[in-house]
Amino acid sequence: MTETSSNGTVAYDVVDRIAWVRFNRPDKRNCMSPTLNRDMLEVLGLLEFRDDVGVLVLSGEGTAWSAGMDLKEYFRETEAKGLGATRDAQREAYTWWRRLRWYQKPTIAMVNGWCFGGGYGPLFACDLAFAADEAQFGLSEINWGILPGGGATKVATELMPMRKAMYHAMMGENLDGKMAAEWGLVNESVPLDALKDRVTAVAAVLLKKNPVALKATKDAVRRVGVLSYDDAEDYLIRAQEAANSYDNHGRKEGIKQFIDDKTFKPGLGAYDTSKQRG
Ligand code: COA
Repeated sequence: MTETSSNGTVAYDVVDRIAWVRFNRPDKRNCMSPTLNRDMLEVLGLLEFRDDVGVLVLSGEGTAWSAGMDLKEYFRETEAKGLGATRDAQREAYTWWRRLRWYQKPTIAMVNGWCFGGGYGPLFACDLAFAADEAQFGLSEINWGILPGGGATKVATELMPMRKAMYHAMMGENLDGKMAAEWGLVNESVPLDALKDRVTAVAAVLLKKNPVALKATKDAVRRVGVLSYDDAEDYLIRAQEAANSYDNHGRKEGIKQFIDDKTFKPGLGAYDTSKQRG
C-alpha cells in the first residue's frame, strides 16, 4: 500500500523487503523544494531501521527522476527571506543527501527520467544507480547562470574523468541513459520498460548478502578514496573488526558452509544467511 510523507511530496511502498521511495511532485518534475527535502528526511528516517526493509530504491513519479532544485521555492523564495533562510534550505537538502550517502541499508537510484543539477546529490548518495535509456542527465546550472553547486560539481568530478566533467559542467548539454552509463554517472542503462525488473533483480541479490558486511563494504568504498594506502589498509582492518562487534558469526558460517558443509562456493554466490545463528 502506498504511503506518503507529511506533505505528500514523497511516496513509498515496501514490497518484499524493498522500499520503493519516490520523489512525488510529478507536475513539477520532482524538483526539490524545501518541503520535499524535509519530507524526504522524514521518510528516510522512518525506513532506515525497519526490519522489513533490506534495500532502498529511489525513483520519481511521472516523467522525471528529479529536475534538481526548485528554482522558485528553493532559490528565489528563500533568497528573498535572507541569508539565514538560504542556509536553512541548503542544510535541509544536504542533510538528507548525507543521510542517504551513509544509509544503513544498500541504496539504488532508479533514474526513470529527467535528472538535473541538484539531483546529482541524491544520485551520488545512492550506492548503485540504474537509468532508463530514455532518461536525461544534465548540469543545467550553466544554462541559467550559476555554477553547479550543492555538490553537483563534486559529483561530476568524483564520477567522471576531468575532461568529461569539465565538458559536462561547461556545455550544459544532456546525456541520455546510455551515455550516462558510458561516462560513469550510473552503473547501467536499460530501456525504461525493463528498468524496474533490472533494479528488482539487483536488489534481490543484495537481499541475500550479509547486511552487516554490506554496510561495512559500502562505507569502505566511499571512505578509502581519500585515504593513503596505509591509512586505507588500517581503516579496513578496523572497519571489519567493528563489523564483527555487530555480527561475529556470519563470516564463520560462510567459511563453514564452504569448507565443511560444501553447500556453496563464495566465488559463485552468497552463503545461506538464514542458517546463521544470532
Ligand atoms: N524548479 C522549479 N520549477 C520547475 C523545475 C525546477 N527545477 N523543473 C520543472 N519545474 C516546473 C515548471 O516550471 C512547470 O511548472 P508550471 O506547470 O507551474 O508551469 C512544471 O514544473 C513542468 O515543467 P515543464 O518545463 O513544463 O516540463 P517539461 O517536461 O516540458 O520539461 C524539464 C522538463 C526538466 C526539461 C524542464 O522543466 C526544466 O528545464 N527544468 C529545470 C531543470 C533545471 O535546470 N534544474 C536544475 C536546478 S539546480
